[in-house]
Amino acid sequence: MAAGRTHNPKAWTWIAWPLGALPLAWVLYEGLTGASGPDPVAALVNALGWWALVLLLVCLTMRPAARVLDIPALVIWRRTFGLWMFIYASLHFLAWATLILGWDPGRLATELSKRPYIIAGAAAWLLLWPLALTSTRKSRRRLGKRWVKLHRLIFVALPLALIHQFWVQKSGFGETLAFLTVAAILIGYRLRGRFLPGK
Ligand code: HEM
Repeated sequence: MAAGRTHNPKAWTWIAWPLGALPLAWVLYEGLTGASGPDPVAALVNALGWWALVLLLVCLTMRPAARVLDIPALVIWRRTFGLWMFIYASLHFLAWATLILGWDPGRLATELSKRPYIIAGAAAWLLLWPLALTSTRKSRRRLGKRWVKLHRLIFVALPLALIHQFWVQKSGFGETLAFLTVAAILIGYRLRGRFLPGK
C-alpha cells in the first residue's frame, strides 16, 4: 500500500502550492525586514517580475522534465506553477501600479502607452489572463483541442516577457542571456517533432 501511494503522482500535487508560495514569502520577508536594499519598493516590483518569468520557464520545463526524468507528477505540477506564475505577474503589476504610480490615471495611461518596455510587459500579462482563466480541468475538457491551441499563447507571452526583461535589466546581460538560453532550449525541444521524424 505504501509503495502504491509513493508511485501515485497525484498524491504529490499539493506540494506545488507551498513550493510556489516560498519565493513570495521570501520576497515579502526581505521587503518587511529591510533586507532587500535601499529601495524596497523597486526591489519588490523587480523580484515579483523576476519570479513570474522564472515560473513561466519552470512551467515550460515541466513536460520535458517529466519525460526525461520519468516523473509524471511534474506534468501535474505544471498547472499549479502556471497559476503561481500568473499570481506573481499580477502582483508585479499591482505593486508597480500601487506603490510606484499610486494608481494615478494620467501616469498609468502615459506609462502604458508611451514606454515600450511597459507595453511589452503589459501585453505579456494580458496574454496570461485567458490561460489562467481556462486552467481548470473543466475548461480543458470543455475546450478540447481549442484549449491546446489557446494555451500556445504562452509561446507569445514568453518572448514578450523576455523583451520586457531585456529592456528593464540593470545588472548586465548575463541574466538575459541565461533566460534566453533556457527559453531557446525549451522552444527547441518543443519544436523538435517538426524537424526530427519519430519525436
Ligand atoms: C502590466 C504588466 C507589467 C508591468 C507594468 C511591468 C513593469 C515592470 C517594471 C516597472 C519593472 C522594473 C523596472 C525598473 O526597475 O526600472 C519590471 C521589471 C521586470 N518585469 Fe515587469 N511588468 C509587467 C509584466 C511583466 C510580466 C508579465 C513579466 C514576466 C512574466 C515581467 C517580468 C519582469 C522582469 C523579469 C523584470 C526585471 C526583474 C529584474 O531584473 O530583477 N513583467 N516590470
